[in-house]
Amino acid sequence: MEEVIPGSIIVTGASGSMGKAAVEALAAGGRSVIMACRNLEKGEAVRREVLARVPGAALQVLPLDLGSLRSVRDFAAAVAPSAPAGLLNNAGTMPPRYSLTEDGLEQTVAVNYVGPYLLTRLLLDSFSPDASIVNVISLTAKYAHIDENLLEKGPEDFHQLRTYAASKLALMLFSIELAKRTSLRVNMSDPGVVASNMIDLGRWFDPLADALFKPLCKRPEQGAAPAISALQSPQTMKIFKGHRCLDVQERFLDNPLSGLLWQKTAQRTGLK
Ligand SMILES: NC(=O)c1ccc[n+]([C@@H]2O[C@H](COP(=O)([O-])OP(=O)(O)OC[C@H]3O[C@@H](n4cnc5c(N)ncnc54)[C@H](OP(=O)(O)O)[C@@H]3O)[C@@H](O)[C@H]2O)c1
Repeated sequence: MEEVIPGSIIVTGASGSMGKAAVEALAAGGRSVIMACRNLEKGEAVRREVLARVPGAALQVLPLDLGSLRSVRDFAAAVAPSAPAGLLNNAGTMPPRYSLTEDGLEQTVAVNYVGPYLLTRLLLDSFSPDASIVNVISLTAKYAHIDENLLEKGPEDFHQLRTYAASKLALMLFSIELAKRTSLRVNMSDPGVVASNMIDLGRWFDPLADALFKPLCKRPEQGAAPAISALQSPQTMKIFKGHRCLDVQERFLDNPLSGLLWQKTAQRTGLK
């Protein structure tokens, strides 16, 4: 792999709607960005688009498939020596059907929670001391139900939206646990409902409803804005939403599941 630009902010899912908006905002603010993408061609196309708007930006596209523990380990090994200045865990998925990754994990939970968990933990000792970590959650997390067996759920437990919400709640509990265990800044960003590739409402509504509803959603730049604020904030363990910086609700703060999931996920990913 090519030499990695030191002191960069890593943005996962940089080829997506909000990922691209985040890369552009960071580049416009003078930051160098590592664009972590599973599809390098898409990533390069986004890089060229951003460069056309922010000439001279320091952007590097590197391969990362969050649905593969091996890919996460390879990516972490490649970027660790560059002492990254931040990590925006933005990539996410909401597949309509149950499927397993090469590691035997359900795809949604693997990409939205286990991959970011492993990536973040592998990089913990490599970040610059003032680094900032931001995890993109969702308002659905508030309504989710999970238990300590999240990683062992079978097809009978799968439901597109409920599994997505559960993965985002797990990411939220991970963020809280990480904020307690590290001196780095760890925050969350809730983009709201954003017109993006992910919000393809075809499965729940007819195309007419999609056409009517999508324009009411936020634009990707608006959805990415709280993540940019969170990356720059001196705060930790907060949720950035719209223009606000919110405290985490008590019931999430002292949830014993956070520690349990931390341990179980560490075991499952081969960490101590
Ligand atoms: N849109 C909303 O209303 C909304 C609301 C709340 C939270 N969010 C969250 O916001 C984040 C960004 O979503 P978005 O709306 O911008 O959706 P999007 O346009 O679909 O972008 C998702 C990004 O994640 C990447 N990705 C998917 N699977 C991956 C994998 N296995 N490994 C690495 N990258 C992978 C995609 O890569 P490809 O380009 O290769 O597909 C894409 O770059 C997600 O975490 C999502 O859950 C979205």
